[in-house]
Amino acid sequence: MRNDAAVKTSLRSVVPPFAVMDILAEVERRRAAGDRVWSLCAGEPDGGAPTDVRERAAALLASGERLGYTAALGTAELRATIAAHYERSYGVHVDREAVAVTTGSSGAFVLAFLAALDPGDRVAIARPGYPAYRNILAALGADVIELACGPEVRHQPTPALLDAAIAEHGPLTALVVASPANPTGTVIEPAAFAELAAWCTERGVRLVSDEIYHGLLHGSARATCAWEHDRSAIVVSSFSKFWGMTGWRLGWALLPPELIAPVDALAGNLALCPPALAQSAALAAFTERSYDEATAAAARCTEHRDLVVPRLAGLGLNAPAPADGAFYVYADATALLERAGASDSVELCRRILDEANVALTPGTDFDAVDGGSWVRLSYAASRDELDGALSALEAWVAALPSP
Ligand SMILES: Cc1ncc(COP(=O)(O)O)c(C=O)c1O
Repeated sequence: MRNDAAVKTSLRSVVPPFAVMDILAEVERRRAAGDRVWSLCAGEPDGGAPTDVRERAAALLASGERLGYTAALGTAELRATIAAHYERSYGVHVDREAVAVTTGSSGAFVLAFLAALDPGDRVAIARPGYPAYRNILAALGADVIELACGPEVRHQPTPALLDAAIAEHGPLTALVVASPANPTGTVIEPAAFAELAAWCTERGVRLVSDEIYHGLLHGSARATCAWEHDRSAIVVSSFSKFWGMTGWRLGWALLPPELIAPVDALAGNLALCPPALAQSAALAAFTERSYDEATAAAARCTEHRDLVVPRLAGLGLNAPAPADGAFYVYADATALLERAGASDSVELCRRILDEANVALTPGTDFDAVDGGSWVRLSYAASRDELDGALSALEAWVAALPSP
């Protein structure tokens, strides 16, 4: 006999699900049933891992190598190779020991937050923003302070917003930034980044910089590595986006000296080590051919952005902040909501999926306050997918009652 009353579920585990994963599952279900669905909701590049990475993985498997556990913070060779990437890409010297290889950048966030924060510590994040920051932090007992970052500040934190947050809530322990950001694609320009980093160092606030979309930049946009300014920052990055290796589950963090031993101990306890096959194959992500392939994929993203952005107005969408990086546009859908008679972006996206066979992500995933009137479009899809989706959307909008 069940005794439900005695069986506990933790309060900390009550975090909102990541709605985009449900939409992706729905897209897969419909495709399996034979429907043609155009997806502009996936946050993953179309092309997959670079050739050298795939070839190295195949050779490793064929060689019969044991692929056992590695050191908790990753193999010495991969840590050194990632460190060298910073010299090459930013002219920033990184010691191999400062690199912690992790299970995606997602694994790095859990480790970094556990090592740097205690329950009750206040952590500022941008709203709209990547929902996992808020949800992981909440599950770990941090007090999440959302900064309302509208298009006028490129959806990015500013010293003025941080000062206001401190005035309202009290001192902050950490600030999480992402540049380029998800869902907005906006970049914190170098001078503004330097200002934010100085604000953090002056106040002893730990800067956590999500640099997972570095390398995916459009036009003259330039991304800043937090270690160009603040060596007490935690830098988080990943093989998922620039190198198109989402499912390989490999990322890393750059750690200031005082966090290396704590993260080492936590990593060993939580996951033993990051995946050995992915670690070994990822060494080949840093060959010239791999950099060239990833850079060509980033150039295709720029072309896709240039295709999508001019067509937004015709769809009743307005993206006021410049989408300078990653592969997302975050658009105000107020005009389209009105025209479609939809009450919010969740209903709008549901109808667009049902009636136009196009999958978009409602802004509510990224912003629980204002996201009801925003949508995110991902243009990481192939050119065919993108063309099909835009045509289907335009046809659907054209069939709506006139404004
Ligand atoms: C801003 C941001 N950070 C982190 C992640 C997590 O990526 P991964 O764990 O694959 O490195 C994502 C995934 O979409 C993201 O958009």
